[in-house]
Amino acid sequence: MQVAVIGCGYVGLSTSVVLADLGHKVIGVEIDKSKLESLRSGKSHIFEAHLQEIMEKCVKSGTLSFTDDHAEACRDASVILIAVGTPTRESWQIDLSQLECAIDAVASALSKREGKAKGIEPVIVVKSTVPSGTMDYLKERLAAQTDIPFRVASNPEFLREGQSIFDTFYPDRIVIGGEDTESIGILTELYSGIIGQTFDDKPPRPRRPANFHTPIPVVKTTPRSAEMIKYASNAFLATKISFINEIANLCEEVDADIMDVARGIGLDARIGPQFLRAGIGYGGSCFPKDTKALQQHAGSRGYTFTLLNAVIEVNRIQRYRFLAKIRRALDPLPGRTIGVLGIAFKPGTDDIREAPSIDLMRELQMDRVKLRATDPKAIPNARAVFSGCEYCTDPYEVAKGADALILVTEWPEFINLDWSKIAKLMKGWIIFDGRNCLDRPSIEKYGLQVIGVGR
Ligand code: UGA
Repeated sequence: MQVAVIGCGYVGLSTSVVLADLGHKVIGVEIDKSKLESLRSGKSHIFEAHLQEIMEKCVKSGTLSFTDDHAEACRDASVILIAVGTPTRESWQIDLSQLECAIDAVASALSKREGKAKGIEPVIVVKSTVPSGTMDYLKERLAAQTDIPFRVASNPEFLREGQSIFDTFYPDRIVIGGEDTESIGILTELYSGIIGQTFDDKPPRPRRPANFHTPIPVVKTTPRSAEMIKYASNAFLATKISFINEIANLCEEVDADIMDVARGIGLDARIGPQFLRAGIGYGGSCFPKDTKALQQHAGSRGYTFTLLNAVIEVNRIQRYRFLAKIRRALDPLPGRTIGVLGIAFKPGTDDIREAPSIDLMRELQMDRVKLRATDPKAIPNARAVFSGCEYCTDPYEVAKGADALILVTEWPEFINLDWSKIAKLMKGWIIFDGRNCLDRPSIEKYGLQVIGVGR
């Protein structure tokens, strides 16, 4: 199929690359000059495993190209996927301006269609995360600007940063919210290769997981329900994290171990083991934004989402509880040297949006602590927003003369450190484990003390 993808960020670029690799003819639209330049020169502007290699392969075979011209991309497209950003305003209300611009550009592109292309009734699909009812609004906006017939659908994306190509090839489900059976049918055809897993998993594609079940379930529904599924999924996952964090806090009061408790409850098939890792709370560009946007959206409809309000509040407090533990253990703080291991909001990414590390460092800076920090990928991004610390290239440099270390991001390279070397380099002996990822006995045998969350 001929596909236009508007917006080449994490979602847009990953989707473009995978669809092109499965044989569709994809044109990605990117209006940011430097990103477009990089894409045109064959270089991805984001780091994701498998992305660069598959992108190169598709560009070479002619199934994938990039432009900043919406008319060129939409000329013969039967599917137009919109994957632009939906940031939040200060009030946490969703800012739809990028989507509105994309819709206006699509309207103008459709009006320029000529000859045979005029007969194609394209499906305009929103992949961006938006509140229920947005597709209806965008449809009206588009219809007011063009006479060309079109259909609309909402097709939310569930990929995780750091695993975007894997998640696009091997999703748990595909959600198609179409306005009619035709639009649902066209999108089902678009994803038929993924649904039936009709491709091989030879490199550069990621390996198919063992016991992967086909066909992949497709939830066919209305645009409004599809839009709600995305918010509800992220809100539910955030709820699981805040729930386990509260249980962890309680474990500290009653001298129980959250690791055993999480395992014990996660083995119940109705609960499941995932997203039960207690720590200093969730961050990133999705959970904090989407939970607050859903809270806002509910409020705008006169509904108080009591549970979600608590989830957000628990997550806000969690990093300060952890900080209080540091303050108690290292009292008095002024003049101390503390090393921070990990700045990114999670391993496998350089993204520091809503990362707990930045809040922690800002607070410790106010306590007049001397800070040193390292991260395998996020130092350039961190430097741009926080200058109050010395950025180091490796954890051993961070540990030199430190009174304590705080592990904030569970990068594998931090879990497998040479702890005897760390113990010799440090002045103090406390390691605060904000992700409960360190193996205590193998570290404490060197005279260090590991303080985690809920243990
Ligand atoms: C999340 C969802 O997992 C994706 O399904 C969704 O598509 C995406 O948001 C989005 O809306 O675009 P992502 O933000 O990339 O993906 O990261 P996750 O791996 O879900 O982690 C989110 C945060 O939760 C991280 O800060 C992580 O450290 C934290 N977390 C996760 C925990 O604290 N405990 C856990 O058990 C799991």
